[in-house]
Amino acid sequence: MPALAGCGGRTQSSLAPESHAAKDIASLFWWMMGGAWIGLGLVVALLLWSWQRRKRRGFGRDSGGVKPGERVGWLVVVGAGIVVPIVLLATLFVISDVFVIKTTEAPAANATRLTVHVVGHEWWWEVRYPGKGVVTANELHIPARTPVRLEVTTADVIHSFWVPQLNRTIDAIPGKTNAIELYAEAPGRYRGQCDEFCGLQHAHMAFSVDAEPPAVFRRWLAAQARPAAAPASAAAQSGERAFLDGACSTCHTIRGTSAHGYVGPDLTHLASRTTLAALAIPNTRRTLADWITDSQAVKPGNQMPDFRLTGKRLQALLAYLEGLR
Ligand code: CUA
Repeated sequence: MPALAGCGGRTQSSLAPESHAAKDIASLFWWMMGGAWIGLGLVVALLLWSWQRRKRRGFGRDSGGVKPGERVGWLVVVGAGIVVPIVLLATLFVISDVFVIKTTEAPAANATRLTVHVVGHEWWWEVRYPGKGVVTANELHIPARTPVRLEVTTADVIHSFWVPQLNRTIDAIPGKTNAIELYAEAPGRYRGQCDEFCGLQHAHMAFSVDAEPPAVFRRWLAAQARPAAAPASAAAQSGERAFLDGACSTCHTIRGTSAHGYVGPDLTHLASRTTLAALAIPNTRRTLADWITDSQAVKPGNQMPDFRLTGKRLQALLAYLEGLR
């Protein structure tokens, strides 16, 4: 049973496809699985059959001269051992490399209305909407039932972007941009995960794709394109000053302010996101406070230093960040 522990549920499962590409991949998997089971059944049946035959006749007694059934034996070896594998593997190669790879490919840049650019970082995902003035992190939004061209690269080591329910995996390689189609048949949240080992927090390098009805997506995009909201309270104002004068602004960008850092995620609309630290924790006041004061306890090895802030300073910073809707 432990061997099947990972098989339940639909979250992040390539066997619960939600796009035409993922459906092709899933059916290829089932065909290969079915073929493998038939092959295994045949091999086991032949083994049992030969074992029974030997047992009936006794070992070593049939030596010398042409043995009965030798012709059949040769046919089985050449047929099942050489011809069938060549035909099967060649067919699978053609189906997967010619047909499935084609259906999972990215739409051409000039044939799609939306391109999303994703940059892998240790250990989070930068998400850019070229030409729309939108930068966010870890939570992608796309319109449902619309082919989106997704371009992937990395700022440091090799990562790999994978949303099992929507398409195959695509590597994020330094100095290179790879593209794939991102398409969701139905609105919903699809979980994705980095699937190339990339260091200490590889397992905590998740992301989500929110597929929304096109009108909802357009509203989201317009809201994200706006500069950060001005602080609404005295506490938030002093939080903004702490953010801009302190170390935060050297690593983070908040559009509409003087913070232009590029090491960590863009925080312009931080409060509109539901999670922090590449889906490691939910985005609440409490977890945000934990993250600011002791992020190394939450996600050891991440690039954010611990800021042992307490009392008024921390509350002010939280008030400011929570206003960034
Ligand atoms: Cu990034 Cu594994």
